[in-house]
Amino acid sequence: MSANKVVIGNWKMHGSPADLWDLANAVQRDGLPCDAAICVPFPLLPAAHAALLASPLRWGAQDCSVHAGGAHTGEVSAELIARLGARYVIVGHSERRSGLGESDAVVAEKAHRVLAAGMTPVVCIGETSAERDANETAAVLRRQLAPLVRVLGRALSAVVLAYEPVWSIGSGDCAAPGVIADTLGLIERTLHFQAGMHQGAMRVLYGGSVNPRNATAIMACPGVDGVLVGGASLQPADFLDICRAAKRMANDREMVLIQGS
Ligand code: PGA
Repeated sequence: MSANKVVIGNWKMHGSPADLWDLANAVQRDGLPCDAAICVPFPLLPAAHAALLASPLRWGAQDCSVHAGGAHTGEVSAELIARLGARYVIVGHSERRSGLGESDAVVAEKAHRVLAAGMTPVVCIGETSAERDANETAAVLRRQLAPLVRVLGRALSAVVLAYEPVWSIGSGDCAAPGVIADTLGLIERTLHFQAGMHQGAMRVLYGGSVNPRNATAIMACPGVDGVLVGGASLQPADFLDICRAAKRMANDREMVLIQGS
């Protein structure tokens, strides 16, 4: 969408207030070269607010309730998350889709709640290895995107989409650049068909075994506006290395644009 890449960390069920302060201190010491955020478990949101308030690093959550409010024991509304200063909420991560049975319709409703609370939803989509092997990737992506298009309408362009092939999450098996580029092309054509969206109308990230060694090659893939990072976001040095790769890619892209203009 733009020359600027975005890096979003997903701490999953890891981390502590001390880890947040370590990250905040590393950012203060080394600087933050690109747009970036770290998505933490709910109980760490107040600590993220305290540690990162004066930092360029944003913070967010990893899920929210499908309900706006009310009697829903154990749920956390997007509104409550927003009040803790969060700017992003990951929705529809495959660990929630498969482990907790979240449907495509529920994921779309959650994205709607996040937008209504003034934050950015990071909506995860992607196929399993069985689905890829059975040539079902296009059908799976169409099915996952359709309720988003229906529920969000024009607001869809405010969503950050994260293509995360399930087989590559936490496996060390990052998708090859050709696979990423092809699949992002597929997503783009699907969004054009389903929503009339033009190329680059929304930001699309890649996620799945991103680390400081492969981040540059991933972000060089056509259509990749940034990365969603799990394991490698837990070490401040690795996370900031990935942010530096994002910055280098943005610089390279700007040079190409200037040379081409
Ligand atoms: P990973 O996780 O980087 O550890 O593969 C990515 C994710 O689950 O978002």
